[in-house]
Amino acid sequence: MTKKDKLITFFSETRQETELLCEPLEIEDYVVQPIADVSPPKWHLGHSTWFFEEFILKKYKNNYQLFNKDFAFVFNSYYETVGKRVVRSDRGNLSRPSVAKVYEYRTYVTKEMEELLSNNSSEELKSLVLIGIHHEKQHQELLLTDIKYILGNNPLLPNYNDAILEHKVQSNNSDWIKMEEGIYEIGHKDITQFHYDNELGRHKVYLHNYEIASNLVTNGDYIEFIDNNGYKDHNLWHAEAWDWINTNSITQPMYWHKVDGIWHHYTLNGLQKVDPKTPVTHISYFEAFAYAQYKGCRLATEFEWEAAQEKFNWGQRWEWTESAYLPYPNYKKPPGAIGEYNGKFMVNQKVLRGGSIATPSNHTRYTYRNFFQTNLRWQYTGIRLAK
Ligand SMILES: [Fe+2]
Repeated sequence: MTKKDKLITFFSETRQETELLCEPLEIEDYVVQPIADVSPPKWHLGHSTWFFEEFILKKYKNNYQLFNKDFAFVFNSYYETVGKRVVRSDRGNLSRPSVAKVYEYRTYVTKEMEELLSNNSSEELKSLVLIGIHHEKQHQELLLTDIKYILGNNPLLPNYNDAILEHKVQSNNSDWIKMEEGIYEIGHKDITQFHYDNELGRHKVYLHNYEIASNLVTNGDYIEFIDNNGYKDHNLWHAEAWDWINTNSITQPMYWHKVDGIWHHYTLNGLQKVDPKTPVTHISYFEAFAYAQYKGCRLATEFEWEAAQEKFNWGQRWEWTESAYLPYPNYKKPPGAIGEYNGKFMVNQKVLRGGSIATPSNHTRYTYRNFFQTNLRWQYTGIRLAK
């Protein structure tokens, strides 16, 4: 297969995978937005399509005809450079365009893109298409977590799909991995391979001796924290976190329900008993920090995580780190709208490393820097202790 054919296949498969994720949905599920952070599936389908139209087809395809001139207003997420848009919290109020129309839009843009890619194999186009593909993969993960939130906050707790296994027992017993003091290189190495701008520049950090757990914290560990009044001891919590748990009556991870005295949680397979052996998930940074305090430990920095990652298995849960989301030394924000992808979010967020069971398998990598605000927990987040 030529390089050009590989890119077209990668693009087309990604587009299909997104639609497959929506196959188990009923039409009503596509439009709901229970909270501002959770976008309706219909919006994800349209937005990931608009990205290709706005940043690629409009610029590179001769005489490209927009599918609908109003869709930029509906499906632009946060790109100030390209104009006004629907406010985020109003995405669930859009009964139009219909789901059928959004699927038509997808088909139209997919075809136009495939035609463009078979006639133009410039490096500049290729690098933008790869951003578009990986952007769509990020939205595949968001689709799953947003669908989970939509169905998991429906009182009937419907099943989404039996095929997805959210909770897997970790293969080995947990151990402490000892890491030597010294200089480590951090950041994306091979710039010919796909990466986001925030993974550059590669740079040196000095780390002191530390230990990092080989396993993620389990549900059983976390139940012990709850039972030992972890949510009631202010000593374990940041001031902002203490206000947050009290204001919002947070006493357990998101999706947990006690049924007849036994912990259950909503999963994409419906309501299930919590398995004490599988890694805890849907916890905020605030809770990850408090749990680490309770154990007399701490969270790893993102640098400690990256330096040690070869020595443990990762990929079940996005792992909260103790690192603020900041630019690396020599970070360069790209010009124009693509520069809005990462750089403008480098304030008031923590870095998460690894990936989760909802992350597409060919999307994450050990230098990948995910980031969320400290109170958010609808992603598959988890805890790895350090000391
Ligand atoms: Fe996006």
